[in-house]
Amino acid sequence: MEEREHRVSRRQFLTYTLTGVGGFMAAGMLMPMVRFAVDPVLKKGAGEEMVAVAQVKEITTTPQRFEFTIDQVDAWHESEEPRTAWVYKDSKGEIVALSPICKHLGCTVNWNGDKKNHPNRFFCPCHNGLYEKSGKNVPGTPPMAPLDLFHMEVKKGTLYLGNVKPRGEV
Ligand code: FES
Repeated sequence: MEEREHRVSRRQFLTYTLTGVGGFMAAGMLMPMVRFAVDPVLKKGAGEEMVAVAQVKEITTTPQRFEFTIDQVDAWHESEEPRTAWVYKDSKGEIVALSPICKHLGCTVNWNGDKKNHPNRFFCPCHNGLYEKSGKNVPGTPPMAPLDLFHMEVKKGTLYLGNVKPRGEV
């Protein structure tokens, strides 16, 4: 009686076998597609490349413009993207690396861009936007947020920059 209950009918055997073989074949076809879809995400350091930009000894208390390129990985598309940073040492000797992209409508800001009327400030020529040396937006001018900061690290006397990291209003 008990032995009879555990018997597998021909129909059940075929069902199990075909389900197993079908599942195995489906997995074999799907795995390469899944791997292809997520490969860029799994790549080590995707989007987090740090680029050597300057020697620490050449960075002064006056903001200087440094240009560099970074490998941009956008899903399956890789390209070299030019970047610019305003870099200086603050009163404590800490390095500050600011994005030049205006927080109003995205024009490029320049240190002392309007030296005559607004000395020692970042100036955006598009709509007369102003930022203090720290990158803080000057109230009463169009930008509503401070300039973004670059992700940075210093190794063996060299400054490396990566992506910008947005910051809240200061
Ligand atoms: S884009 Fe800079 S002030 Fe408008």
